[in-house]
Amino acid sequence: METPHSSATATVTAAFAVGKRKHQNHLSSPSMTPLLLLFPILMIPLFHLILTHRSPIPTSLLLPRYPSIRPSRFVKNISSCDYTNGMWIRVPEGDPFLRYNVSCSEIFKGWNCVNGGKSNAEDLIKWRWKPRDCDIPPIDALEFLRQYRNKNIGFVGDSLNRNMFVSLICTLKNAAAYGSVKKLRQFGADRGFIFLDYNLTVMYHRTNLLVKYGSWNASPNGGKLESLGYKRGYRVDVDIPSRTWVDAPSFHDIIVVNTGHWWWAPSKFDPIQSPMLFFENGNPILPPLSPEHGLDLALKHMISFVEKKASQSSIKFFRTQSPRHFEGGDWNEGGKCPHIQPILPQQVEQLFSLKNNGTNVETRLVNQHLFNALEGSSFQTLDITSMSEFRADAHPSIVGGKRHDDCMHWCLPGLTDTWIDLLATKLAATQLQRTAT
Ligand SMILES: *[C@@H]1O[C@H](CO)[C@@H](O)[C@H](O)[C@H]1NC(C)=O
Ligand SMILES: *[C@@H]1O[C@H](CO)[C@@H](O)[C@H](O)[C@H]1NC(C)=O
Ligand SMILES: *[C@@H]1O[C@H](CO)[C@@H](O)[C@H](O)[C@H]1NC(C)=O
Ligand SMILES: *[C@@H]1O[C@H](CO)[C@@H](O)[C@H](O)[C@H]1NC(C)=O
Repeated sequence: METPHSSATATVTAAFAVGKRKHQNHLSSPSMTPLLLLFPILMIPLFHLILTHRSPIPTSLLLPRYPSIRPSRFVKNISSCDYTNGMWIRVPEGDPFLRYNVSCSEIFKGWNCVNGGKSNAEDLIKWRWKPRDCDIPPIDALEFLRQYRNKNIGFVGDSLNRNMFVSLICTLKNAAAYGSVKKLRQFGADRGFIFLDYNLTVMYHRTNLLVKYGSWNASPNGGKLESLGYKRGYRVDVDIPSRTWVDAPSFHDIIVVNTGHWWWAPSKFDPIQSPMLFFENGNPILPPLSPEHGLDLALKHMISFVEKKASQSSIKFFRTQSPRHFEGGDWNEGGKCPHIQPILPQQVEQLFSLKNNGTNVETRLVNQHLFNALEGSSFQTLDITSMSEFRADAHPSIVGGKRHDDCMHWCLPGLTDTWIDLLATKLAATQLQRTAT
């Protein structure tokens, strides 16, 4: 487990201000240039473990020039770094980093903000997250394909995990040879691909709550819930994984799990009209639990389910909650996200501080439940919350022709590409740790 979220966010504000000054100096200093050019060489120690042979396939990626990192210190810091504590900095003009472009067919229309005409869509990738004490290098897609040859990678969770899955698919497709990527859905996956030259599969298993649920109606014969006056609702079995991913932990070598948004979804699980009714061992839990206590039980059971089913060598991540940025009301109350730049630390606190109990308050609440549940487990956390809280500019907003603004999902290319960079960085760190011990 890493630094608990509460203390991490407390230091973000200070780091932002300090880091900003420091970086302006860095980027304008001509003495940095030779170091910047060294960047590819400096990355060699990190990847010498994973280089097997050079493929003739050219990569269309443009590597950006980044502030340099001393490799020995980088390797030491990579596993201990607090990636949540940092700031977004503007990439200098002429330094684009295109992992893929809007022609990637896997991008869902409502998330394709360039084609959808969002005014700042081209700007979204011109920011990069700079953790205070280390760096998240952009993914090297070709190296990633080589490194994870013969592996299976599974994303398990709600549509925000699909958002992230699409980032990885588009990035890898852009580096793979034309015609060498085929659709492949197995073991309940909703979407998936195999990269034939590398025998690497990447799949997305859709599940809203992780656990099984379905509508529930009072039985005419009565029962415990009926006697408490319940007429209808949703039965949620906290100890039964939904069938879309029940086989995922034993199949995938790397698994990235999330849940959260659906536990705070009163439009579906209305506390009065259609409440969540929690079941364990096939029996209703009495007295009935609130959703947040149901979440605790579901997390406990699903984390131990994965631990039991996954092989010893598999790498498990739990992704933290993705923040929404509705302002002026919730999604169904005319809420909007009109920002065209990352927001400032004090705006972040205003939107997300638990004290303010604002529209998007579930972001940090969900994380509290996650961090508690993950303690002592073999999951690593993929903590994307703090970095994402700044990115009110990166949602589709009006794109996609929906009746409501989308201030929940993320434009692509966009923020979830940085989540993938973090994933790749943490995977590389895990490999290093494993070879060291
Ligand atoms: C997007 O990238 C593909 C190659 O992956 C290239 O053929 C195409 O021209 C690019 N399109 C745009 C709009 O840049
Ligand atoms: C590594 O961590 C130490 C202490 O946390 C910090 O002083 C140093 O600058 C870090 N090095 C890099 C390269 O990030
Ligand atoms: C592809 O990878 C799987 C493991 O994910 C392995 O069982 C299989 O033998 C590999 N196939 C080839 C052709 O190497
Ligand atoms: C937070 O706000 C909601 C309504 O927006 C209200 O129902 C709830 O009681 C508030 N919670 C706290 C702890 O103040």
